[in-house]
Amino acid sequence: MTKVAIITGAGKGIGKAIASQLVTDGFQVAIADMDYASAVATADELANARAYRVNVADHDAVFQLVDQVVRDFGQLDVMINNAGITKEILLEDMAGDDFQALFDVNVKGVLFGIQAAAAQFKRQGSHGKIINAASIGAYSVAEKHSGYSATKFAVRSLTQGAAKELGADQITVNAYCPGYVETPMMNAILQNYAEQNGTTVEEEIARGSQRIALRRPEKPEDVAQVVSFLASEKADYITGQAIVADGGVIYK
Ligand SMILES: NC(=O)c1ccc[n+]([C@@H]2O[C@H](COP(=O)([O-])OP(=O)(O)OC[C@H]3O[C@@H](n4cnc5c(N)ncnc54)[C@H](O)[C@@H]3O)[C@@H](O)[C@H]2O)c1
Repeated sequence: MTKVAIITGAGKGIGKAIASQLVTDGFQVAIADMDYASAVATADELANARAYRVNVADHDAVFQLVDQVVRDFGQLDVMINNAGITKEILLEDMAGDDFQALFDVNVKGVLFGIQAAAAQFKRQGSHGKIINAASIGAYSVAEKHSGYSATKFAVRSLTQGAAKELGADQITVNAYCPGYVETPMMNAILQNYAEQNGTTVEEEIARGSQRIALRRPEKPEDVAQVVSFLASEKADYITGQAIVADGGVIYK
């Protein structure tokens, strides 16, 4: 039977590239995003794809998403908790609401995704794979990104904990840690840097690339290749890992 994957935050950026790669790999994919219009547009571009609206910070909405996908496709094999947000704020300026919003999406979103997928895998009595979006920020903190990094450290911890708790059911749980990826999220950050420094986005990309061993920004497709591997049978014996794929920025 054709395998089924849910990818949250798949209307744009890294999630969209993951969805496209998994279709190439032979999956049927559920493109789930809070921005439903972008989910529909992405699903329209791909074969074997359907669009869903979800706010991953909403526990019931994530469980309903899994139920609906199983009604539509018959099963679930891979859950990719990709949706995330960032906020560039110094810690001393961080309002409680901003901190809460980061944790609501990046951490609770992953928690609810793990819970809903694990419940479905157990109902099916099948092996399953859960793959979470972390970041190089899960290992190393950049100025103004401490709040964001705190959420990604938390994703790494949820990934390890879930791997231990779900391993006996043959459910694997891993995370991917991209570096500087050309997506709408990164573009907004680069625009801020360019405004602050009186430069252009292109100049910021050129300067940032000097900090990357491979001397180029990461493409969403670079991340999708790693997720493709983690979603495949080749990764059956890997669990609890947060795998860095950043072109050489941090070294673990
Ligand atoms: N871009 C990077 O350089 C980079 C680096 C490391 C990690 N990441 C992580 O990769 C993931 C994807 O990042 P991206 O750069 O593609 O981001 P993006 O902002 O370009 O796209 C994110 C998508 O998630 C959706 N989304 C946001 N909040 C949501 C919610 N509450 N519920 C459902 N969908 C929601 C958005 O509508 C959007 O379509 C994130 O978890 C991010 O933290 C990105």
